[in-house]
Amino acid sequence: CKKFLTFNNGEKMPVIGIGTWQASDEEIESAIDEALEAGYRHIDTAPVYRNEKAIGRVLKRWLDSGKVKREELFIVTKVPPVSNRPHEVEPTIRKSLADLELEYVDLYLVHTPFTININEDGSFKLDKDDLIEVDVTTDHAAIWVAMEALVEKGLTKSIGISNFSKDQLARLLKNCKIRPANNQIEHHVYLQQRDLVEFCQSENVTVTAYSPLGSKGIAKFNSGAGIVRDLPDLMDIPEVKEVAAAHGKTPAQVLLRWIIDTGVCAIPKSTNPDRLKLNLNVFDFELTAKEVAKLSSLDQNIRICDFAFFHGVERHPEFTFKNQYTN
Ligand code: A2P
Repeated sequence: CKKFLTFNNGEKMPVIGIGTWQASDEEIESAIDEALEAGYRHIDTAPVYRNEKAIGRVLKRWLDSGKVKREELFIVTKVPPVSNRPHEVEPTIRKSLADLELEYVDLYLVHTPFTININEDGSFKLDKDDLIEVDVTTDHAAIWVAMEALVEKGLTKSIGISNFSKDQLARLLKNCKIRPANNQIEHHVYLQQRDLVEFCQSENVTVTAYSPLGSKGIAKFNSGAGIVRDLPDLMDIPEVKEVAAAHGKTPAQVLLRWIIDTGVCAIPKSTNPDRLKLNLNVFDFELTAKEVAKLSSLDQNIRICDFAFFHGVERHPEFTFKNQYTN
């Protein structure tokens, strides 16, 4: 199993990165320190996670001390949904770079295919039913032109997208100069999205799996916004436990190995030093074809990040995905 995925522009991304969603500044500072110590070089973040400054402090310490070289790191951040407009793209990456204390990132992603409208005070605009309002004029092709300019200016090595569907990606591919290098999507045994993954891979767009371990307990943090739900604990699925026991590995290691075996990158989040180390230690065993088939048969097509619910699609049947997400 390969330790790096190679992009369509030749850049290389480590197949296991550390996710940083839902971690406080204090937690993330020590977790990133531990992660770098354990050998992680790929860090996935976003302004939405509100911890870029804390991550920046750790990166600066490591880079200044010479313990790691900039070119050994692979840092990913994203255009937040509230800034998903062409003229906001460059100021937004510059703010992330200042917070991360970096001159460039390795991969800059459009976080969501939609844009969230905000009030003057920065709070989300709500519609008449108190649901978060999206900007239906979001124009992926125009945003992409602004993304391409960032590569030309040296602010990011590669550009990509996140939470894009097959149709949205197909349309972008027809309207781009620089092809997206990566689509970061929710992907785990209960939401395999095989069609989307295969389409990305056939177009030479690498895939990164977020919530690869099922983001246990996440709904507790987000239930206010109504955008996420808890899945049953993926690490407690009998089939996953059986495969883990057969190899003397943990269920989390099996879930991650199953993902990277299909050429998909995984970004498990952990702030616990022992679990961090375990999540990176997935290269010393192999799943049999029978085990892979068993894990692949677990798909339930259920999501943690249900953007359809977020935008009220379930309560507004007249909305379609198309006019919700794009113009
Ligand atoms: P913790 O940070 O305390 O380790 P995901 O990456 O899918 O979002 O999942 C993250 C969740 O899974 C967090 O609650 C994290 O908790 C937990 N987690 C991460 N690694 C492991 C592991 N190896 N075993 C059990 N739970 C884990």
